[in-house]
Amino acid sequence: MKIAIIGAGNMGGAIARGLASLGQDMELAVANPSQPKLVALREYSSKIQTFTDNVEAANGADMLILAVKPWLIEKVLREIDAEVDLSSTMIVSVAAGVSLDDLASFMTEGEKRAIFIAMPNTAIAVRQSMTFVCHNANATAEQVAMVKTVFDAMGQSAVIEERQMTAATALCSCGIAFAMRYVRAATEGGVELGIYAHQAKDYVLQTLRGAVELLEATGNHPEAEIDRVTTPGGITIRGLNAMEAHGFTNAVIQGLKASK
Ligand SMILES: NC(=O)c1ccc[n+]([C@@H]2O[C@H](COP(=O)([O-])OP(=O)(O)OC[C@H]3O[C@@H](n4cnc5c(N)ncnc54)[C@H](OP(=O)(O)O)[C@@H]3O)[C@@H](O)[C@H]2O)c1
Repeated sequence: MKIAIIGAGNMGGAIARGLASLGQDMELAVANPSQPKLVALREYSSKIQTFTDNVEAANGADMLILAVKPWLIEKVLREIDAEVDLSSTMIVSVAAGVSLDDLASFMTEGEKRAIFIAMPNTAIAVRQSMTFVCHNANATAEQVAMVKTVFDAMGQSAVIEERQMTAATALCSCGIAFAMRYVRAATEGGVELGIYAHQAKDYVLQTLRGAVELLEATGNHPEAEIDRVTTPGGITIRGLNAMEAHGFTNAVIQGLKASK
């Protein structure tokens, strides 16, 4: 299988590195207009072929991953479509705000193409992304499985309907910033309580790691795990209730809704 990635920035570069590390037999081509990011990719892995010409990179690709800024998607896709037969190519866009219909309209006979949107988050750089994938009706089950395999290799992926994409993006792409803000808030609270900032951040991160692993290992609802920590009349329930009195749950929900 040949995978071509157009754009070697944060997203395209992370996807290329993730795929190159898979150890699977695949041809990997990456295109970018300027050399420095391509040089870095070549240095990362000899499996990555690099091009400054999008058409050359896309030629013969089974999967074409478009990782340029949203406003460049139309230009880039039209340019490739004019020169390359995309009739049996899976078209995968990671651009925010570009719909499946938009992508089809950027190609001749686009209504016949297998088109996907994949929405990773920035943790793709450390292969811990939560990536959502949606597709049009032309995508076969086998093609959907192939796209999912690519993004599963860089964290976890879930196939959802396009209508759920905005909500999923708020939850997990914006959500990574919300999680970071919790880390910052908890760190600042720790400092006020008397812990050095750099230590407080490390302690918060390990506490969050523990919370994630507890929930994954037990399959419990978060509230069940909270019940295990909250001694009647104890300090944890006092802390939780103070947070709720200051609008914690509501602030998170309102933030997610504002991000849609
Ligand atoms: N970052 C995120 O958290 C995130 C999450 C989900 C989805 N996305 C989506 O991912 C896409 C890429 O975002 P990014 O953060 O990776 O942006 P980025 O770091 O700016 O990368 C975009 C790359 O595209 C290259 N490029 C520019 N014009 C091109 C052309 N005509 N042909 C081929 N490559 C071209 C740029 O090269 P030069 O720099 O050399 O000009 C740059 O390396 C966006 O559509 C964004 O919506 C991003």
